[in-house]
Amino acid sequence: MPFHLPAIRRQFPILSRQIDGHPLIYLDNAATAQKPEAVLEAMDRFYRHSNGNAHRGMHVLAEEATIAFEDARNAVARFIGARRPEEIIFTKSCTEAINLVARSFGESLKSGDAIALSILEHHSNVVPWLQLKERDGIEILWLDCDAEGRLHPEELRHILDRGRVKLLSITAQSNVLGIRPPLAEMIALAHAAGMLVMVDAAQAIAHGHIDVRALDCDFLAFSGHKLYGPTGIGVLYGKQKLLEAMPPFLGGGMMIHEVHRDHFTAADIPAKFEAGTQPIAEAVGLHAAINWFTQFDWNDIVNHEQELLTHAASALNDIPGLHVLGPLSIRHLPLAIRHSASGCLSFTIDGVHPHDLTEILGRKGICLRAGHHCTQPLHKRLGIAASTRLSVGIYNTKEEIDATVEAIGEIVSHFTR
Ligand SMILES: Cc1ncc(COP(=O)(O)O)c(C=O)c1O
Repeated sequence: MPFHLPAIRRQFPILSRQIDGHPLIYLDNAATAQKPEAVLEAMDRFYRHSNGNAHRGMHVLAEEATIAFEDARNAVARFIGARRPEEIIFTKSCTEAINLVARSFGESLKSGDAIALSILEHHSNVVPWLQLKERDGIEILWLDCDAEGRLHPEELRHILDRGRVKLLSITAQSNVLGIRPPLAEMIALAHAAGMLVMVDAAQAIAHGHIDVRALDCDFLAFSGHKLYGPTGIGVLYGKQKLLEAMPPFLGGGMMIHEVHRDHFTAADIPAKFEAGTQPIAEAVGLHAAINWFTQFDWNDIVNHEQELLTHAASALNDIPGLHVLGPLSIRHLPLAIRHSASGCLSFTIDGVHPHDLTEILGRKGICLRAGHHCTQPLHKRLGIAASTRLSVGIYNTKEEIDATVEAIGEIVSHFTR
């Protein structure tokens, strides 16, 4: 499908909304992306026409719901290049998928074993491991970043030398700096040292092609809602052998083979990890989102978003007292640096608190995010308490970036007068 921005925008009903007489400018895509008609219609059609419970009945509606749910699993498997659909586990979110691995794979860890995390991680990829540390005495080893937030494989080498590291859990794209770590290299290093790798693809999934086989990661997690799909559904990919060896995470209906008064046996994957009624309509919506999104060429999406981000970075860098964080802070960006970050950029402004800035922008219909973005260790590392984040999606335009930068410039000159 040709990449025609006005036609893409027309497919997102929310983008025609006005806020207090201002056109909506939505630049908070890293928090959640908007949904195209195709997703809204698919979920509506499912509830109006085929609503039943998946894997729980012989009647027509239960059968249709089961087919729709398993079709969605197949679509996800194809989208990320999994070997088999059984390697795809549906969860309620990326957060739940990471918790699943922390709790279930975590059962095999002993006091003194270590998990390696990068300083870029979202709290969803920190707290589940801290809970293991509190419960079982697991050690957490941190990979530091350089001054621009980039991660270097040598850091991982130092950590590997330090002890019983069983797993590296690492983001594929920072939700603050947009940095994409050199994952393939780090995964190869980790594997050579006998360590598994979990990838948090919550951000990366919508901004560049991911192929789990090419990457050779052991686990990968993401949420549907950042990929133009619905909230309430997430995905855990895991290599078949690993998932088969892991104990169930949640207990309940359909995750069992047999239940007796004093014990139970677990079902095979993926059912073993899908206790209770599943997010069926959400799986239908995610399937529709993947179908919609994959009409476009990845190169077109990536080039469009890179142009928006570098345009935003160079315009923001011209505002006095504004400091873009990370690699996009460099004024004349060499291509290699441009391509080490995608999706979002964050910044601070001398004398203007991010909450004040985004509150005023919000009244003009401009949606940006302020705070620590669930990355307190990273903000501490950068020596700041909070920042403002601008994050782009497939439907954003250069005009929206210009209007946003202009509004920020006006607010800054008002505050610093
Ligand atoms: C890098 C990263 N990981 C994990 C998450 C958690 O995603 P969710 O809240 O959809 O579970 C987010 C959400 O913003 C994120 O940006």
